[in-house]
Amino acid sequence: MVELHRLVILISGSGSNLQAILDAVECDRILAVPTLVVSNRKEAYGLVRAENAGVPTAYFPFKPYREAGQTREAYDADLAELIRPYQPTLIILAGWMHILSAAFLQHFPNRVINLHPALPGQFAGTHAIQRAYEAYQRGEIDHTGCMVHYTIPEVDAGPVIAQAEVPILPNDSLADLEERIHQAEHELLVTAVQTVLASP
Ligand code: GAR
Repeated sequence: MVELHRLVILISGSGSNLQAILDAVECDRILAVPTLVVSNRKEAYGLVRAENAGVPTAYFPFKPYREAGQTREAYDADLAELIRPYQPTLIILAGWMHILSAAFLQHFPNRVINLHPALPGQFAGTHAIQRAYEAYQRGEIDHTGCMVHYTIPEVDAGPVIAQAEVPILPNDSLADLEERIHQAEHELLVTAVQTVLASP
């Protein structure tokens, strides 16, 4: 019998991209088992989505480490220990808002991918959609996009797996643009996961 791929998904918020993965698994567009969802924020709605799908969850905040004077590397190493028993084929950062250092990444070489709501080389870090929207208002760009890439210690950078352009329309509100990018992300992330799982 063929062994299914195992997915570990890291989130910090609503988890709409996690939901896209769970739905794709449910209808066999992604042939894999989500074995664990980790959040660094307790109130992340993605934890509810995971529980509704019967996927084990873990809440793993950085705050206690910071308060104890421990480093991000200590947190990252312990996060790797938490995840390692699940033997992930692929770790998906789906709205995970914590920069992972080599202390984490070295344990899972070429097995961590990140979703970012901008095109390669643009608007790395937080509030990427808002910054693209503002750049459009200033006439600096006429479109934006989203991408999935292999994760390296540099934030929102690394070899690109898939990307999609998203238009910005003259009468768009920020909410309109956010909605259009999220729609594009949901499809792009599923495609990227399929691509990575299909590669030898
Ligand atoms: C997504 O737009 C994702 O690209 C972004 O967080 C959002 C999570 O939405 N990630 C980053 O900005 C990473 N720098 P979700 O919780 O609804 O999936």
